Amino acid sequence: MRQVIVNSKSYLTSGILALTIYLITLCLAFFCNPVPLANLLGFFSLIAYITTLIPSIFKRAFPVYKNSKAIKFLMNKRRYIGIAAFFFGSNHGLLLLIQREINLLSPLTYIEYFQGISMLFIFSILAITSNDWSVKSLKVYWKKIHRLTYLVTLLLPWHILDKMSIHWTYVTPFAVLFSLVNLCIFIFSRYKKQASANFK
Ligand code: HEM
Repeated sequence: MRQVIVNSKSYLTSGILALTIYLITLCLAFFCNPVPLANLLGFFSLIAYITTLIPSIFKRAFPVYKNSKAIKFLMNKRRYIGIAAFFFGSNHGLLLLIQREINLLSPLTYIEYFQGISMLFIFSILAITSNDWSVKSLKVYWKKIHRLTYLVTLLLPWHILDKMSIHWTYVTPFAVLFSLVNLCIFIFSRYKKQASANFK
């Protein structure tokens, strides 16, 4: 019974989150004419995604911050921030599909939009399995599935640089900077993990 209440509570929170995201985006799109709504959604998805990684990457790369309040707060809210990243990303992709009349039946679409579609696929899997029921049922596989998130770290800078190469918007420099810093910190944290494993 308690499980059902906890699950319904987390679905309700996700629903409220999705609605809030739509409202905030619509308001911002109204005031931020220079940045098209689809681009803004992509940028928000990037911010939410990087926020979900901060606790684990910081724990590994900079262990001094391990017990900080901010890191603990982000760790607790990670599930919802990840679901927000999925909502922003899926709306970004959907708007671009409509705007550019992208044909989903053509194999060329999957080549041209390889990074975006792969990231959306990964975000969908992560969002679907971001609940207590999945953690319990998938057991050890849950952690393995959620490691897919690190693939997005590699795909994101590629996606932005490829798709925005000749027409940057106001958010593109920040998107490029954040995604590259995220990639560098990720590589550094992997290097540290490997080095400490070799030392042992
Ligand atoms: C779900 C994960 C995704 C994230 C986090 C993401 C993120 C971004 C970001 C940050 C930008 C740059 C925006 C700017 O600098 O103004 C961008 C651009 C773009 N994305 Fe995505 N994206 C995702 C999925 C997709 C999908 C599924 C598609 C394909 C349908 C797609 C197609 C594009 C295109 C075409 C652009 C260039 C837009 C333009 O020319 O102004 N993205 N994306």
